[in-house]
Amino acid sequence: MSGATPAFVASPGGRVAGEIRVPGDKSISHRAVMLAGIATGRTEITGFLDGEDCLATLAAMTAMGVRAERLAADQLRVDGAGRGGLHAPPGPLDLGNSGTAMRLLAGLLCGQAFDTVLVGDSSLMRRPMERVAAPLRRMGARIETSDGRPPLRIRGTPGLVGCQHELEVPSAQLKSAILLAALGAQGRTEVREPALTRDHTERMLAAFGVPVERHDRMVAVQGPVELRGCPIAVPGDFSSAAFFIVAGLIADGAPLLIRNVGVNPTRTGLLEILRLMGADIRVLDTRMAGGEPVADLEIHPGPLRGIEVPRALVSTAIDEFPILFAAAAIAEGETLVTGAGELRVKESDRIAVMAEGLQRLGVRVAVLPDGLRILGGPVEGGVVDSHGDHRVAMAFAVLAARAKAPVEIQDVANVQTSFPGFAATARRSGLLVEKRSA
Ligand code: S3P
Repeated sequence: MSGATPAFVASPGGRVAGEIRVPGDKSISHRAVMLAGIATGRTEITGFLDGEDCLATLAAMTAMGVRAERLAADQLRVDGAGRGGLHAPPGPLDLGNSGTAMRLLAGLLCGQAFDTVLVGDSSLMRRPMERVAAPLRRMGARIETSDGRPPLRIRGTPGLVGCQHELEVPSAQLKSAILLAALGAQGRTEVREPALTRDHTERMLAAFGVPVERHDRMVAVQGPVELRGCPIAVPGDFSSAAFFIVAGLIADGAPLLIRNVGVNPTRTGLLEILRLMGADIRVLDTRMAGGEPVADLEIHPGPLRGIEVPRALVSTAIDEFPILFAAAAIAEGETLVTGAGELRVKESDRIAVMAEGLQRLGVRVAVLPDGLRILGGPVEGGVVDSHGDHRVAMAFAVLAARAKAPVEIQDVANVQTSFPGFAATARRSGLLVEKRSA
């Protein structure tokens, strides 16, 4: 068992119990740095995710003249350049593995007075970008993709014009990119989405003093408008907590408490899905922090049963399918997921990659164009390849708690993009996960 990149070796058993915290929310951390950078005045960000994706956004903003000081690993002081105060970066902006950084920055940069080129790692360079370039072009932006993929070549075009957008894919990244472009555009920009997606941009724009009109699945802003710096408290990332929600359900143990988790209803579809599967998850002490609801989650172990996942819950659980598929592998009976074709264009093709890994561990899986059918049953030990996808790697590390023998998960370096310290947090929770260096 050896490989060129770091791996996890996760052993069966472990007693999951006690209390943990997870790092700051990735989506909210990206937005905080971008909005703080184009605001006037100072923004103090606490709970910032010190992960590679958000650090790529921070590096991009500082390369364009934003002044940011790291007060601690999870604390930043940003002195905004103002919406018109950014300058051309010295070279292409490298956004690593982060689709959110690339798509949101496309919106932020297309109306600037300078040109930019956006690039990323091999996974990001394969991801679809016409979906964001096309609606921005309707506002007057000049953006070239390379056969629909990065690099994105943006010819800065001041004087964008607001318009109405009807999105075909449910995507918070597209909605957010359009809203960021709208801040500097003339007139009203309206976005309608086909299903509810995370609304962190809308909430944070309001915190920065931007009037945001919202109704059902419609959001509109009137440009041009200035942002005012404000304090931002980033909650723990629900998508990182998700791994421990499932660990607490499926591993032997006592209740597990996960403190300070963002529970924005546009993110918590997994809770509803797991409850339909029979899970006992208690949401305690819900409070508001920085315009976002936050709570402590208490997870009680117990059996899960397979279900047909309601399609209406897919968009609010979009990042949680790797760990949901893992839960389905040990549930009693069959779980069917459909309507989740977007999983094929995430950091990896999460339908194909999860099916491959589950099959290697002896789980019976049928691959559908837009989902998976999984028959719960015994899970063997073995070697699985995460294909460089952070959430796939963490999902298998959790599933190993119920395997018959250790599971080696290869190519886990990208766990740093969203969850630095995952293996240590996993051990603190009681899981038997070791990280083996390259
Ligand atoms: C994100 C939106 C989602 C999600 C991604 C983060 C965001 O992507 O999968 O991890 O921060 O806006 P899509 O907009 O492509 O659905």
